[in-house]
Amino acid sequence: MTSTQDIILLGPPGAGKGTQAFRLATRLGLPHISTGDLFRQNLREQTPVGLMAKGFMDRGLLVPDEVVCEMVRERLELDDASSGSLLDGFPRTIPQAEALEGMLRRLGRRVDCVLFFDAQDATLVERIAGRLTCSGCSAAFHARFAPPKVAGVCDHCGKAGLAVRSDDTEAAVSARLVEYRTKTEPLLSRYTKSGQLRVINAEQPIATVENSLALALESN
Ligand code: AP5
Ligand code: MG
Ligand code: ZN
Repeated sequence: MTSTQDIILLGPPGAGKGTQAFRLATRLGLPHISTGDLFRQNLREQTPVGLMAKGFMDRGLLVPDEVVCEMVRERLELDDASSGSLLDGFPRTIPQAEALEGMLRRLGRRVDCVLFFDAQDATLVERIAGRLTCSGCSAAFHARFAPPKVAGVCDHCGKAGLAVRSDDTEAAVSARLVEYRTKTEPLLSRYTKSGQLRVINAEQPIATVENSLALALESN
């Protein structure tokens, strides 16, 4: 294992990438870089990138590659990413994967491992349908599978007012699944060929998935 670690969390919407990234970030001491969360943060701050991304996100469409890649490039240059990164939801297209390889190469790094969250569509829809998201720290909860300790209050940052994400509508979720199948799934064969892909059974309960991820990383 190299001294820096750059790990990709790859998988369909609602598979549990964000949930596990929160846990892994603490365990590995790496920054959790979620492109979806970065866009939502930009939107809260009403930046041009945030306002532009909103139109795509609310329709369940991917934001153009150049916009996402520039945002990630800037994020990877921040001090906390000097020892590596946990990339949640990036890359999501072949051009994004190529851009990431270039960014890491310039930093003298490479992708160490790609953790693929494998789950059925019915599971994804059930998880997204019950999801509540913290507008403060982006932590995800679930009415049935991961309720907060105090109803409506975030366990992580204490903010009250967990809410349904604006792209968790039925229409946007269907579109996100189509985008995933057509544009993101091709990454699986790329990372299988390169030997970087680790398949995780994301159908299991949260704690079991966490253990599977730890095992996959240990054996990497
Ligand atoms: P993004 O925010 O990344 O959304 P997503 O990929 O659709 O994934 P989600 O965040 O919906 O799911 P997740 O896998 O993180 O699951 P979670 O842990 O929350 O992207 C949003 C949008 O931004 C995109 O549609 C696009 O427009 C844009 N965008 C972002 N990145 C982009 C990129 N690279 N290129 C272009 N555009 C981009 O879990 C889901 C629910 O299930 C929660 O309620 C959780 O509590 C529960 N849960 C989690 N694990 C389990 C479990 N094991 N068992 C039971 N319940 C569980
Ligand atoms: Mg997420
Ligand atoms: Zn929070």
